[in-house]
Amino acid sequence: MGNHRQSRKAKRSHSAISISLYIVIIFLFSIFIFIIYSRDILLDHQQTHFQTDKDQPKSEKMFNDVQIWGPPSGKGLHPCVKPTTKYKAAQVSDHYMTVKSNGGLNQMRTGIADMVAVARILNATLIIPQLDKRSFWKDTSTFSDIFDEIHFIESLKEDVRILKELPKELESAPRGRKHFSSWAAMSYYEEITQMWNEYQVIHVAKSDSRLANNGLPLDIQRLRCRALYQSLRFSPPIENLGKKLVKRLRSRAKRYVALHLRYEKDMLSFTGCTHGLDVSEAEELKVMRENTNHWKVKDINSTDQRINGLCPLTPKEVGVFLKALGYPPSTLIYIAAGEIYGGNTRLSDLASRFPNVIVKEMLVTEEEMKSFYDHASQTAALDYIISIESDVFLPSHSGNMAIAVEGHRRFLGHRKTITPDRKGLVEIFDNLEAGKLDEPMVSHFVRQLHKNRQGAPRKRGEAPSGIRGRARLRLEESFYQNPYPECICGSNREER
Ligand SMILES: *[C@@H]1O[C@H](CO)[C@@H](O)[C@H](O)[C@H]1NC(C)=O
Ligand SMILES: *[C@@H]1O[C@H](CO)[C@@H](O)[C@H](O)[C@H]1NC(C)=O
Repeated sequence: MGNHRQSRKAKRSHSAISISLYIVIIFLFSIFIFIIYSRDILLDHQQTHFQTDKDQPKSEKMFNDVQIWGPPSGKGLHPCVKPTTKYKAAQVSDHYMTVKSNGGLNQMRTGIADMVAVARILNATLIIPQLDKRSFWKDTSTFSDIFDEIHFIESLKEDVRILKELPKELESAPRGRKHFSSWAAMSYYEEITQMWNEYQVIHVAKSDSRLANNGLPLDIQRLRCRALYQSLRFSPPIENLGKKLVKRLRSRAKRYVALHLRYEKDMLSFTGCTHGLDVSEAEELKVMRENTNHWKVKDINSTDQRINGLCPLTPKEVGVFLKALGYPPSTLIYIAAGEIYGGNTRLSDLASRFPNVIVKEMLVTEEEMKSFYDHASQTAALDYIISIESDVFLPSHSGNMAIAVEGHRRFLGHRKTITPDRKGLVEIFDNLEAGKLDEPMVSHFVRQLHKNRQGAPRKRGEAPSGIRGRARLRLEESFYQNPYPECICGSNREER
């Protein structure tokens, strides 16, 4: 009994000791975390101070170099686009599909890749798509002006039969005209095959976003990747000039940032973003919006748009952003975009912080540019090539180009792509403007906010939870923004 009581007492004091120990450990742990955390902040601050300091220690500088230029870890992932063992070679089909591709260059490219997959599902022979000549870009280029047509046909011959033109005898045949449903599933297209009972030719009036992002067979998803990343090569003149321009950039600096500065008139008018513009400019954008029939929303509050993160970053904001991320003033920045609204005056808001801003016209000779004038899609193709090859890709707005380039860079090995958190940034910028934050604090917050927005591997995102039905399909992350897991694999086992 006595022994028993004693051991109970011992147990009680034992647990008292362990509780105190526990508290001490927690306390020490919090101190530890606190120290680590404050060191982190301190380090960040020191770095921003050090940027202009010539005596910057070497190790510090290298650390910074890796941070701003180094790609995210690819985690041993690699592209995988080969068909599975079940996949059968295409048969010669006497059903035909003609396509009118709509939108700007990148919308057309992803649309065409989708149409290759749809032709495969429908067991149709695909006729080389017609390109959009009426969109904002008003480009008269044909498919073969922009893409390597022979390569396109040849490289997909196991997947889909592709012909340059409809056979003569079918030119006047009645066509089943079809506006395919947006983000359509496999079952939708299986039903469409019923149309073959009535028609030998189906005409597709629009190619953008006609295929779901998810829920399709692996072989169809891989076909989309092969079509976009391997078969839709640009035509030799574009490809060659693009490579030349990349070389010229690299001769100016070891590394460069490709900035897709979507600060173009159409985008500002469409989004109603007039922050930093004067009254007459704002009025001009409003008039353009009112006169553009297919833009449905006319009345837009610019302030609301901006604080909700829906505006493209302005050239000035991009400058503050890049500086906050730690890019030195000497950084070479290539502007991958059409005409900047407000021209050089507005661009100087960026160039004042980063004097090595390069626009296309500074890289290309008159002679080289001759055949590109009035061909917005072809110059966009040059920007695409330069953006894919850059060390860092930074889109100032989420759009078709940003999506396509980000996805392609992921596919090629998770090259660094910085996706600005525009909503968060605007808040920081406004606090800076109001004098509530100083530059080191801005730098700290901006870096924190973008730690996980550098293009590191992750699986494609789903639609936000709570959204049902067709709206879901629209809100899922685009297949072409992130073709992981279907076209990016970790081990060989996943490939089959
Ligand atoms: C594809 O179409 C051809 C004729 O157009 C037909 O002979 C063949 O059976 C079809 N294949 C499938 C899998 O439906
Ligand atoms: C636009 O929205 C802001 C913020 O919500 C508001 O303060 C402002 O009055 C609005 N402007 C107009 C013209 O409605």
